Amino acid sequence: METLDQEARAIVVTDERPSATTQPSLREGIAFGCDYNPEQWDRAVWREDVALMREAGVDLVALNIFGWSHIEPRPGEYDFDGLDEIIGLLHEAGIRINLGTGTSSAPPWLTHRHPEILPEAADGTTRFPGGRQAWCPSSAVFRRYALALVEKVAERYGQHPAVALWHVSNELGCHNALCYDDESAEAFRGWLRARYGTIERLNSAWGTSFWSQTYSAFEEILPPRLTLSSRNPGQVLDFHRFSSDALLDHYRAETAVLRRHSDVPVTTNFMVTAHIRNLDYWTWAPEMDVVANDHYLDHRLAEPAAELSFASDLTRGLAGGEPWLLMEQSTGSVNWQPHNLAKAPGQLTRNSLSHVARGADAICFFQWRASLQGSEKFHSALVPHAGTDSDLWREVVDLSRTLDRLDELAGTRVQADVALLFSWENWWAADGESRPTHAVDYLSQVHAMHASLTRSGHTVDVVRPGASLEGYGLVVVPSLYLVRDEEARVLSDFAEAGGHVVVTFFSGIVDEEDRVRPGGYPGAFRDLLGVSVEEFAPVLPGQVLTLASGRSASLWSERTRARGAEVLDSFADGPSAGRPAITRRALPGGGAAWYIATHLDAADLDGVLREAAAGAGVVPIGDPREPGLEVVRRANEERSYLFLINHTDHAIDHPATGIDIVSGDPVEGAAHVPAGFVSVIREESAA
Ligand code: GAL
Repeated sequence: METLDQEARAIVVTDERPSATTQPSLREGIAFGCDYNPEQWDRAVWREDVALMREAGVDLVALNIFGWSHIEPRPGEYDFDGLDEIIGLLHEAGIRINLGTGTSSAPPWLTHRHPEILPEAADGTTRFPGGRQAWCPSSAVFRRYALALVEKVAERYGQHPAVALWHVSNELGCHNALCYDDESAEAFRGWLRARYGTIERLNSAWGTSFWSQTYSAFEEILPPRLTLSSRNPGQVLDFHRFSSDALLDHYRAETAVLRRHSDVPVTTNFMVTAHIRNLDYWTWAPEMDVVANDHYLDHRLAEPAAELSFASDLTRGLAGGEPWLLMEQSTGSVNWQPHNLAKAPGQLTRNSLSHVARGADAICFFQWRASLQGSEKFHSALVPHAGTDSDLWREVVDLSRTLDRLDELAGTRVQADVALLFSWENWWAADGESRPTHAVDYLSQVHAMHASLTRSGHTVDVVRPGASLEGYGLVVVPSLYLVRDEEARVLSDFAEAGGHVVVTFFSGIVDEEDRVRPGGYPGAFRDLLGVSVEEFAPVLPGQVLTLASGRSASLWSERTRARGAEVLDSFADGPSAGRPAITRRALPGGGAAWYIATHLDAADLDGVLREAAAGAGVVPIGDPREPGLEVVRRANEERSYLFLINHTDHAIDHPATGIDIVSGDPVEGAAHVPAGFVSVIREESAA
C-alpha cells in the first residue's frame, strides 16, 4: 500500500464552507475532465491512461463514483490499495481529483445482508440489485453503512493535496427518488407532521373532504401507492416534496462527515435534463459549494440543442449566476435512448462551448475510456473502443486545447436580458394525473418560450418564482399553474414598477396546496393581466386554431374576458371563437402585462415575444435573422467575451471587435464564423 501524501494544502478559506471562488484548485481556468472508472481495467492500463490524460490535457478526474464494492469488498473490510495507487498516479501527473464518496451503488453483500434497503415502486414491487442505485432514500440501514464508508474515505483522503472537490454519491435520485416502502411511509408521516402539525391542517391542505378521504390520525397515511382511480393530488405533490427532501437529507449527512475531515468544496452532480424531475434543485442548490450538472443531448426531443441551452441557463440560475461545472456529458452517443445518435464532426466542440458560454467553468465527460463490458459498453468515451487513432480522440484533444485558450474567462458572468420563471413544484403539480389536457405538459411550454427567446437572440436567466427581478426588462412566465401569493406579488410589483411581463395560459391557477384560486383564472395573475377566464377549452392534438390576425395555434384555448387589458388578437375558430387570445395591459408606471391564452405556433410566438421585448426596450444580443448563430456574452468588470457559435451550414458575419481567442486572429468590425465553427472574441472595450 502506498503512503499518502499528507502535506498541508494552501487553501484560502474565508468562510466555514469553502466556495468555488475561494478554492484556487477550482478557479485556475476552464477545467477539462472526466469520470474515470479504473476498477474496470488492469493496472498496466492505468499508467497508459494517465499518460494519455496528460496528452489530452485532462486536469480534473472523478474517481470512486461506483467504487464501494472495491474499497469495502466485505462488510467492514476496507481495501484502499487500488484507490491509493491511482490517486498517486494522477497526483504525480498534476491531475486534480473530484473524489466520489463511493456510496451511489450498494455492493451485493449489503443488499444480500439487508434486503430491506431495496426500493419499492408505487405498486409495492421491489426493485432488485443487479443494476445500480438500488437503495431506498429513507433506509436507516443504508444510511448507516453509507456514512461508515464516507468516514473511511474522508479520513483517508480528506487532506490529500490532489483532492480538489468532493463528489457526493452520484446523480442522487436518478433511479430511486420515489420509494414507497413502509420505511418511507413512516418517514413521510414524520415529514407531514412537521409540515402541518395537526391532522386537521393536513386534511384541509389535501382537500380530503372529497371522496371520503378524511384522515383521523397521521398513522393512517401512506405514500401515494398505486390506486384504482386517480390519486389525491395534494398527497402526490407532498410526496414529491418529501422525496426531494429525503435525498437532500442524505446529501447533508454525507457532507457533514466530509466536513469533519476536509475543507475541500463539496458538491453532487445534478440532472437538469428533460426526463428527470424528481428533485427540487432550487432547495438543493444553496447547499452546494459549487453547482455541478450532468447533461446529455436528448434525441427524443424535437430540438436537443435548444434543450441544452435551457438546461445550461437553468443550471446557471441554480448557481445564482456564478460559474458552475459541467460534470458529465458525452463525446458521442449515449446508450440509454431508443436511438443513440453519434455527434457530427464539430458538434462536441459546439456543445461544450455552449455550456461555457452559458457559465460553465469546467467541461467534464462520462467517461474516460469506453467500457468493454457492462451496461454502458456502447456509451461513447474520450478514448473510444477504436483507440486514439480516431477522429473522436483528435477532436477531444483539440477541444481540450481550445478550452485552455479560454482559461482567462473563468469566473466571468453571463449577461442576460430576459428572465424566465421555472419551478419544479409547479412541474409536479401542473402535470398531475387529472388535468385539462394531457397534450400540454409544463416542460414543453417552458422549452417553447425559452427556445423562442433564444431564436430571437436573447440570453435568458432562468430563475425561481419569487426571486428578485431587478435589472430585467422582460420576465416571461410560462404555464405557472402553482404559485404562492408572495411569488405572484414579486411579479406584480415588478410590473407596477415599470417592468414588462408575459404570462401564458394555465398560470396562477392554484396556491401551494394545489387549491384553485376562485373567481376566474388565472387567479393569482388576474388583476395584473386584466383578464378573467371562465372556462378552459383545450382541443385535440392535430386541430389547428386560427386567430383573427391569421396567427396559428393548437392544443389550448379558453373562454377569456378582457377586464382592463387591450385585446390584441382573438380566437377566430374553435371552441373559444370570438374570445381574446392575446392581450396586453398597460400599467401606469410604463410597464406592460401580456397574456397569451393559447399554444402559439413557433413563428407566431417569436413575433409576439419580439414585440413584447421591443416594448420593454430589451435589445437582443444575437441577430434574430440568424437564429442558428448562438451569441452570448460573459464579462467581469475589466473584460468581456463574446461567444459566437455557428450551428448552421453557412458562414455568418457578426459585428465584433477584438481578438478571437480561439483562433488568435484579430477581429475588426465583424467576426467571420465559418459553418460549424466557434469564435470567442475578447472585446476591445468592456461591455
Ligand atoms: C449518468 C451517470 C453516469 C453514466 C452516464 C451515461 O447518468 O452519472 O454514471 O451512467 O449517465 O450517460
